This record gives sequence, C-alpha cells and structure tokens, in this order.
Amino acid sequence: MNLSFDRHRRLRSSAVMRDIVRENYVRREDLIYPLFVTEGHNIKNEISSMPGQYQFSLDRLEEEMREVASLKIPAVLLFGIPDNKDAVGSEAYNDEAVLQSAIRMIKAKFPDILVIADTCLCEYTDHGHCGPLDGHGCVLNDESLELLVKTAVSQAKAGADIIAPSNMMDGFVLAIREGLDGAGYWDIPIMSYAVKYASAFYGPFRDAADSAPQSGDRKGYQMDPANSREALREMNSDIKEGADMLIVKPALSYLDITRQVRDNCDLPIVTYNVSGEYSMVKAAAQNGWIDEKRIVMEQLVSMKRAGADMIITYFAKDVANWLKEEA
Ligand code: PBG
Repeated sequence: MNLSFDRHRRLRSSAVMRDIVRENYVRREDLIYPLFVTEGHNIKNEISSMPGQYQFSLDRLEEEMREVASLKIPAVLLFGIPDNKDAVGSEAYNDEAVLQSAIRMIKAKFPDILVIADTCLCEYTDHGHCGPLDGHGCVLNDESLELLVKTAVSQAKAGADIIAPSNMMDGFVLAIREGLDGAGYWDIPIMSYAVKYASAFYGPFRDAADSAPQSGDRKGYQMDPANSREALREMNSDIKEGADMLIVKPALSYLDITRQVRDNCDLPIVTYNVSGEYSMVKAAAQNGWIDEKRIVMEQLVSMKRAGADMIITYFAKDVANWLKEEA
C-alpha cells in the first residue's frame, strides 16, 4: 500500500499516549460551587427541580462547607433567600441579612475558601425583577445601580472575597467599582456577569432562589440568545468599567461566545454551567439514559476548550470527588 494520508491514530494508540497529548483539563482548582442560603434553623430543603441541590439555613450550611473544604473546592458562589421581600430589595443591603451572615460564618470557619457574592436584587424584590420598577414594570437602570452599590459594599464589609454583579444594568461595574473603592475595598475584585443571556436555562434556579419575575421577563436587560456581536460590546463595556474577571452565562449553548470572548480579551473567563443545564443531565441520568459522570466531564472540558478558566457548576462536589478517585 502506497497511499499518502495522515496517521492521526498514532497519537490515540494507548491511554498513556492519549494522556501525554491531551490539550485541556478540568481541574479541581477551576471549580466554583453555588450555594443557596435561607433563613431559619436546621433547614436543608432539596430543590425539587435540582435533585442533589439544597437551600441551607446557616447551621446546615456549615456542614455542607465542611464537605466543600474536605474536597478542596476553592470557591463558593452564594445566593441569599430572604423571608421578607419588598419593592426595592432592602434585605440585599442589610448588613444583618442572611447572605451577609453566611459570608461572615464561612470566612470565620473556612478562611481559605474564596467567597463570591452574587450581587443582584431579584431574590430580594417582591416582584422578582433585578431592580426597582417604574410605573410600567420596566427596571430602572440608574436607581438600581445605587442599590447594587449598597449591596456590594455590604457584602464586602461582611468579608466577601469577590463581588459578582449579575443584574445586567448598564454601568453596574463602574458604579460598583467606585462604590467599593470609596468604602476602602479597592482590593476586592469584580467578577462581572458581563455576558448574560435571557435564557430559559435559568428555570430551575428561579425555583431554588424563589426569584421568578411575577410579571414580564428579563429580556429588557439580559441579552438576546440570537446575538453574538452584542456579547463583545458587553464585554468591552465591563472591561472599560474595571471588571477583573468576566462571566459568560449560560455555558453550553454559548461555547461559541466563550471562545469569542477568550479571543478578544485577556481577563480570566468564567462559564456558568446553569441550573437548567444541571437539571437536564440529572433527569436523563436518573432515567438511566446517559452516563452522568462521562457526560458532565465532557461538558466541562468543552467549556475549558472554548476558553474558560473557571467553571461555576452545581456538579462541583461530584467533579472534585471523581478527580480525587482518578488521582
Ligand atoms: C440572578 C441570577 C440568576 C442566575 C444567577 N444569578 C437568575 C436570573 O438571572 O434569572 C441563574 C443561575 C442558574 O440558572 O443556575 N439574577
């Protein structure tokens, strides 16, 4: 035989050969684990649409954090679920609220774990939108910024290591940067939800955080899934305003966006493997239709291949366990 073609299979001939040419890895160090904190005592409520994920009261959160620490997961992303909601989300910027208490508890007992605070108002407003509304149900941009700044400063004061603003108001990075600097928190980085789409994949999260909009939707502030050039405009604004890291969200239907962001900026990039992406895998796995571990690892490595440095995922504990088993 005297054919001329490439012998790609040479580099796939054994496990050790495949290992030595592998280009991308999911590492324990890449993982950020989201957690929902609720008021009350001895509460660990499973979220019905997210099997294996819970709302925790502070005492039970501590037990969960011990597991996070033993798995050496480097960071958690915290969401607060207050009992009392109002039109302006007052509990978001109350220093004594449940999220701030959770931050203080974690930093006191697990000082080496990075605490990232989600900075948004939708879990705190009675109408479920990400900021106060005008008379027509439209979120007020600049009024929201003032409340977001108060929220971020309160979170930083409680000890948050990173502020992650997610409400998609224009100018939110600049406002929060100035607010943090003004309060003396110039050393606290902003991990901005720079590129956040108005996605149906957030459905289960809204059960988990009790944050579904009571009327309308978020299309007036989150991005249109049909757009990609717009993602670069959002990215550029957040860089100009002082973001230290950028989030692309959701992850899986937006790997092309992560790649474009990676190719057009040099900040660390985070993908958010969101609730709907988690629940779809869980449902199929519970039916025995897919191999959960292989599917999750394939999805996460595809995020790394697209250019992500870090991954926010509800699978973080599973992944840390699987990586440990393999080591
Ligand atoms: C807050 C926020 C949301 C998510 C993260 N932060 C909900 C939303 O924008 O509706 C979704 C996360 C997930 O689905 O896992 N604004």
